[in-house]
Amino acid sequence: MAKCAFIGLGIMGYPMAGHLAAKGHEVTVYNRTAAKAEQWAKQHGGRAAPTPRAAAEGAEFVFLCVGNDDDIRSVALGDDGALAGMAEGTILVDHTTASADIARELDAKATEQGKHFIDAPVSGGQAGAENGVLTIMCGGEQGAFDRAKPAMEAYGRAVTLMGPAGAGQLTKMVNQLCIAGLVQGLAEALNFGIRAGLDMDKVIDVISKGAAQSWQMDNRAKTMVQGKFDFGFPVVWMRKDLKICMEEANRNGALLPTTALIDQFYHQVIKAGGSRWDTSSLIHNLRLLD
Ligand SMILES: NC(=O)c1ccc[n+]([C@@H]2O[C@H](COP(=O)([O-])OP(=O)(O)OC[C@H]3O[C@@H](n4cnc5c(N)ncnc54)[C@H](OP(=O)(O)O)[C@@H]3O)[C@@H](O)[C@H]2O)c1
Repeated sequence: MAKCAFIGLGIMGYPMAGHLAAKGHEVTVYNRTAAKAEQWAKQHGGRAAPTPRAAAEGAEFVFLCVGNDDDIRSVALGDDGALAGMAEGTILVDHTTASADIARELDAKATEQGKHFIDAPVSGGQAGAENGVLTIMCGGEQGAFDRAKPAMEAYGRAVTLMGPAGAGQLTKMVNQLCIAGLVQGLAEALNFGIRAGLDMDKVIDVISKGAAQSWQMDNRAKTMVQGKFDFGFPVVWMRKDLKICMEEANRNGALLPTTALIDQFYHQVIKAGGSRWDTSSLIHNLRLLD
């Protein structure tokens, strides 16, 4: 069992840190809104620290799960940042969905100080975090990955090293690009079925046993038909992710014409008040036209 720090107790981080404690690791947490850290410590029997640096002191593994690149900088760098508290040889694991650039930047900073860095974005959503069955895509050195993998398996079902620093974030970008296109296709198809007057529960039951099946169909199609979006992966996070993908594509030359369009459709959802709605809310744009 290891001494761990977990920084960022949001929808994802709170249950992930809980799984670490449940496995018997000694966990110290930090959260910007301190009340959440106090609540976590009370619930899971760990300790709450006043700064990321204080949380990281004495830890072999320091995990982050915050919002975006700037948030990572504010908890990892500077006098009160996690890196300042970490000892040589220890490992910083970042579960935030962020750019490949910030992963490379933190990897360089950690290496300079004799520490290690792994970018490790996750897929599986709130339910995956709560049930401890996340998919974790990692970038970094093999040695650091091998050491950190058993700890990540407290909340990860598939934990895979994809390549050097940044490769985890690049893999997550591929994941988000797949989802965006698929959800728009599903939204158009379901809206078509509704307008055709079909029994959509029946349609979904039948076609989900054939080639149209997908995770989105199994987990989201029925709520899309019902117009229920008050759960799941928020649209604002998806727009953040698509922006990262499009910036990376500008560098690597990949064309993302459909993604650019879907990003605009998500913008429309936000304008309709859906910034915290699940990404399946793309169908809302189409239903509005009825
Ligand atoms: N939610 C999902 O289904 C899901 C799925 C896969 C991946 N992700 C990714 O996982 C990451 C976290 O998502 P989430 O849903 O857990 O987000 P969330 O519920 O909004 O939590 C964000 C966490 O980061 C902290 N934070 C944000 N900015 C900060 C800053 N500048 N300084 C210090 N702490 C800061 C927040 O602290 P406060 O409590 O003080 O606000 C909170 O603990 C994101 O990158 C997201 O894209 C999310």
